[in-house]
Amino acid sequence: MAKVTYIEDNGTEHTIDVENGTSLMEAAVKQGIPGIDGDCGGACACATCMVYVPEEWQGKLAKVETMEESMLDFCERREDSSRLSCQIVASDEIDGIRIQMPESQH
Ligand code: FES
Repeated sequence: MAKVTYIEDNGTEHTIDVENGTSLMEAAVKQGIPGIDGDCGGACACATCMVYVPEEWQGKLAKVETMEESMLDFCERREDSSRLSCQIVASDEIDGIRIQMPESQH
């Protein structure tokens, strides 16, 4: 189980518990947290689940795979800290993680 804080672009925070093995996109969509669309359902094919991950957490995540990398290229608001939240899977390792959503996913 990981406690995850999602921070909207306007600073509003949502902290929820996410079961290990569940993606941070899936958990956000299920809980109705705004700022993550997840249009493709987590197939790494839409890039509407992009989030910014603070540097201190990046090393705890799985590496960016080729498919995620190419989808990130479609994100207008991509930054160095960008990741697709459908590719971040909850685990005890990331308990306490804080991720920031972009102003919009398009
Ligand atoms: Fe579509 Fe993440 S939900 S790429």
